[in-house]
Amino acid sequence: MSDEPDLESAYALNTPEEAKRLYAEWAETYDSDFGEAQGYLSPREVVRVFTAAGGEGPVLDVGAGTGLVGEGLLAAGVGPIDALDLSDEMLSVAKSKGVYRDTIAGDVTKSLSIGPYRGIISAGTFTMGHVGPDGIPPLLEVAETGCLFVISVNAKHFESAGFSALLDEVESDITDFAYEDVRIYSDKADLSHRYDIARLLIFSKA
Ligand SMILES: C[S@@+](CC[C@H](N)C(=O)[O-])C[C@H]1O[C@@H](n2cnc3c(N)ncnc32)[C@H](O)[C@@H]1O
Repeated sequence: MSDEPDLESAYALNTPEEAKRLYAEWAETYDSDFGEAQGYLSPREVVRVFTAAGGEGPVLDVGAGTGLVGEGLLAAGVGPIDALDLSDEMLSVAKSKGVYRDTIAGDVTKSLSIGPYRGIISAGTFTMGHVGPDGIPPLLEVAETGCLFVISVNAKHFESAGFSALLDEVESDITDFAYEDVRIYSDKADLSHRYDIARLLIFSKA
C-alpha cells in the first residue's frame, strides 16, 4: 500500500478494518484529490439513472463516503436521503454538507436494522477491495416492495466477484432488471484508470 491514500491502495484493501483506516486518512482530501482530480463520474451517473427512472425517497446511499451522491440527489430534488458507510470520518464529511437526514455507521454485508427505503443507490462501493455481491441481500431486506435500486459495480469486479451468480440467486426477489455500462472517470483521470467501466445494476424489489 502506498503512503498517501489513492485508488491503488483502495483497490488493494482486504478487510473492513483496512478500509476504515484508509478512509479515515482520506476523508478530508477525497473530494478534491480524488473526486475532482480524477474527474470521478460515478456519483452523477447513478443519480442520472435513478432520477430518470423516477426514483424517490426515502433513499439509502450505500457506501455514501463524503456525500457526492447525496449532493446530486438533493440537487435533483430527491429526498430524504440516509447515508450508510463503514467510515466515521467519511460520514463526518458527508454530515457537514447538510445533505442527509441521517448518517449511519455500518457494514452493508451485515444485516441492517434500518429502513424501509423506496430507493437504494450506490457509487464506488461495489468495487475491488470493497464490497462484493454479499452486499446485495442485506439491502433487499431493508427495501420496500417496488424499491428502485441503482448500484454501480466496477465491471472487472462484476466478473471476478460473481455478481451474475448472485443475480441468478435473487431472481425471484427482483423485477425489471436492466443494466447500463458507463465510464467511471473522465479524460482527466490517470491513464491507468481513464477508461475503467462501471456496470450500473438497475432493478426493483419484487
Ligand atoms: C470509493 S468510496 C465511494 C464513496 C461515495 N459513494 C462516492 O462515490 O464518492 C467507497 C466507500 O465505501 C465505504 N465502504 C467500504 N466497505 C463498506 C462496507 N462493507 N459497508 C459500508 N460501506 C463500505 C468506504 O468507507 C468508502 O467511504
